[in-house]
Amino acid sequence: MKLPTVALGLLLTGISLAKQHGFLKDNGDGTWIIGNDVWNMTQEKIYGSKLYYKDQELVGEATGHYVSYNGAASNLAWTDANIVKTGSNYIDIQFDAAEGEMHWVIFNGLAGAYQYFVNRALPVLGEFRTLWRLDNETFTSAYNADKDGVLPPLSEYAVSTKIQDETWKTPDEGYLTKYDWSGFVREQEYWGVYGENFGSWYLKQHPGKDYFNGDHLKQELMNHRESATGDVVQLNMIHGTHFQALSNDTLPNGKIWGPWLWYLNNGIKSDVSLRYNNEVNSWPYKWLSDASYRSRIASVTGKLVLSDGRPAAGAAVFLGDNHPNKTTLDMGSTYYYTTYADNDGSFRFTDVRTGVYALQAWSNGSPIGDITTTYLKNDINVSGPATSKLRLDKLTWSVPASDTVFQIGDFDRKSTGFAYSGGFGAGRVDNCPANLTYAVGSSETSDWCFAQNKIGTFRIAFPLPASNITSNNTSDALLTVSLAGYSQGTTVNIFCNDVRIGNLSSSGILSDPSLYRSGTVAGEWHQFEFPINGSRLKTSNTIDFRVASLSSSLWRGPIYDAIKLEWI
Ligand SMILES: *[C@@H]1O[C@H](CO)[C@@H](O)[C@H](O)[C@H]1NC(C)=O
Ligand SMILES: *[C@@H]1O[C@H](CO)[C@@H](O)[C@H](O)[C@H]1NC(C)=O
Ligand SMILES: *[C@@H]1O[C@H](CO)[C@@H](O)[C@H](O)[C@H]1NC(C)=O
Ligand SMILES: *[C@@H]1O[C@H](CO)[C@@H](O)[C@H](O)[C@H]1NC(C)=O
Ligand SMILES: *[C@@H]1O[C@H](CO)[C@@H](O)[C@H](O)[C@H]1NC(C)=O
Ligand SMILES: *[C@@H]1O[C@H](CO)[C@@H](O)[C@H](O)[C@H]1NC(C)=O
Ligand SMILES: *[C@@H]1O[C@H](CO)[C@@H](O)[C@H](O)[C@H]1NC(C)=O
Ligand SMILES: *[C@@H]1O[C@H](CO)[C@@H](O)[C@H](O)[C@H]1NC(C)=O
Ligand SMILES: *[C@@H]1O[C@H](CO)[C@@H](O)[C@H](O)[C@H]1NC(C)=O
Ligand SMILES: *[C@@H]1O[C@H](CO)[C@@H](O)[C@H](O)[C@H]1NC(C)=O
Ligand SMILES: *[C@@H]1O[C@H](CO)[C@@H](O)[C@H](O)[C@H]1NC(C)=O
Repeated sequence: MKLPTVALGLLLTGISLAKQHGFLKDNGDGTWIIGNDVWNMTQEKIYGSKLYYKDQELVGEATGHYVSYNGAASNLAWTDANIVKTGSNYIDIQFDAAEGEMHWVIFNGLAGAYQYFVNRALPVLGEFRTLWRLDNETFTSAYNADKDGVLPPLSEYAVSTKIQDETWKTPDEGYLTKYDWSGFVREQEYWGVYGENFGSWYLKQHPGKDYFNGDHLKQELMNHRESATGDVVQLNMIHGTHFQALSNDTLPNGKIWGPWLWYLNNGIKSDVSLRYNNEVNSWPYKWLSDASYRSRIASVTGKLVLSDGRPAAGAAVFLGDNHPNKTTLDMGSTYYYTTYADNDGSFRFTDVRTGVYALQAWSNGSPIGDITTTYLKNDINVSGPATSKLRLDKLTWSVPASDTVFQIGDFDRKSTGFAYSGGFGAGRVDNCPANLTYAVGSSETSDWCFAQNKIGTFRIAFPLPASNITSNNTSDALLTVSLAGYSQGTTVNIFCNDVRIGNLSSSGILSDPSLYRSGTVAGEWHQFEFPINGSRLKTSNTIDFRVASLSSSLWRGPIYDAIKLEWI
């Protein structure tokens, strides 16, 4: 039932109480004011502006709040606003657009609001976001779990040279790019922008992030300075594509993103952290009565054991599309759950929406960093009342026996362990040499570089015992090359003892922007196998990754995950 545009509570209670209540005021000119006694905002057709908190206006010359998909060409336009639910201490305000409903749940006296979006008719999309563009004098810094600090001022952009996609070279030969302000979304507890007296934050409890597309390695731009206007941007990429090759998904009517808490404070992070703990304890939110949001079971647990007897220690475990036809990173139509197994291979998901899922698992490095295969079990039926616990018994992850000659790096879909891997940093690949030699037996993992983008050769030199080499019939070998990401533009040809055995190139690999957008850990994962005829192998061998030419674009090429040679 839709209620009139004034909160019932406001009508029914006395002045002093009414003052604390959330309200929706229809200005009668296609704009509305929402808020409570602590804050308020004017919602225009597209933009939310005039954000007042502690008697200060926080949007200033910036654009304010809006919701958009597939770039700014598709901003949602609000046609109607109503209070759709009134609780004892909150109201739920729904703004309608052709594509769906944006909700602001305003509690008495709370600085900020819970927000959620219900899909009605969004097209197939890769990018869907809500965001605040805020006053750049009040908000000077940005925080996420991967980066915290002062946002470079617009004046720094003015004296720098644009070299590509939102990336500038500074007079002192450094780089300036919004992509340095990215993070791994499922690792964030909260993020936002802040200054000396004010902070604006998004708080997202872990199982409550099930509406994001992708898996554990889903990355997004979190905050930034808008280079065209100087606005400070607090971004909420609830479906995103900034670090992916593929992200377009068909979204069912009724899919809900959120609720998350948008929270205003005095800019102090420890206060946000306390508030975050409060959100963890109260999630899933009891005030949201949507049937599919409520329909969850307490837990899905299990224990994964490798067929060679080892526990799947530390494995990345994922609940997502049943009978999948996309990679775990590329999924995004419905809801996704991520966790990591314990040392004994046990894993636990909590508050999982009912539905039928596939369970997937892959190595997250040591002690099972040699495992190249992905575990998949379809038709996991999550059903029953809220107290149900689904226990998956005897999950055996079949792994082939392997006679390994060498392995460089752990198979974990990340470049972890290689030189210059870690966090976000524009142009980090510039540090990787043109030529390097990794000598099996004496080199360290960190002697290999995380990515390759110069004309030259990354060489692996390895001996084989004479007993492995017979004059007439040496066994064949298999080279497995796992990439944590790949940006098209650099072709790598692979040679074994100077004979070409394969390539990493745009003819075989989709392009993700990770390497040229400050990614150093992961983009889209790809794994390739190159058989090596035993007749090629000797007591002293080389495998070369050779780059003979580069495209004119900066920072393209592979981000390495792991390389392994085994007898077959
Ligand atoms: C919004 O907040 C400002 C500043 O506190 C206040 O002057 C104004 O009356 C408020 N608007 C409404 C509709 O309450
Ligand atoms: C994704 O969808 C957008 C618009 O909906 C379209 O322009 C784009 O080509 C699509 N990309 C892929 C890879 O399908
Ligand atoms: C803030 O934005 C204004 C334009 O509205 C711009 O002139 C100014 O340089 C920006 N400030 C910073 C610190 O970037
Ligand atoms: C891929 O899987 C989804 C369900 O997860 C299904 O709706 C879709 O039709 C499938 N697409 C193809 C091409 O098989
Ligand atoms: C899942 O289990 C429930 C309860 O046993 C059952 O009603 C439902 O049909 C099952 N769904 C599927 C797809 O098997
Ligand atoms: C890389 O090695 C090749 C072959 O030895 C050599 O010609 C080239 O100069 C080296 N490149 C750099 C940058 O040292
Ligand atoms: C190669 O030699 C090693 C060490 O002697 C041995 O363990 C391995 O089984 C041999 N493999 C083949 C294919 O000959
Ligand atoms: C292959 O060579 C090994 C020694 O290198 C020899 O023992 C074996 O008999 C040879 N086999 C054949 C089929 O020639
Ligand atoms: C080569 O050796 C493999 C085992 O090492 C054996 O299975 C195969 O029959 C041999 N082939 C020849 C032609 O000797
Ligand atoms: C590179 O490898 C791909 C397979 O990944 C293959 O289709 C393509 O033909 C190769 N390109 C060249 C130039 O050999
Ligand atoms: C390996 O190379 C040898 C010698 O060139 C050839 O006879 C054999 O057929 C090759 N094996 C495979 C599996 O291609």
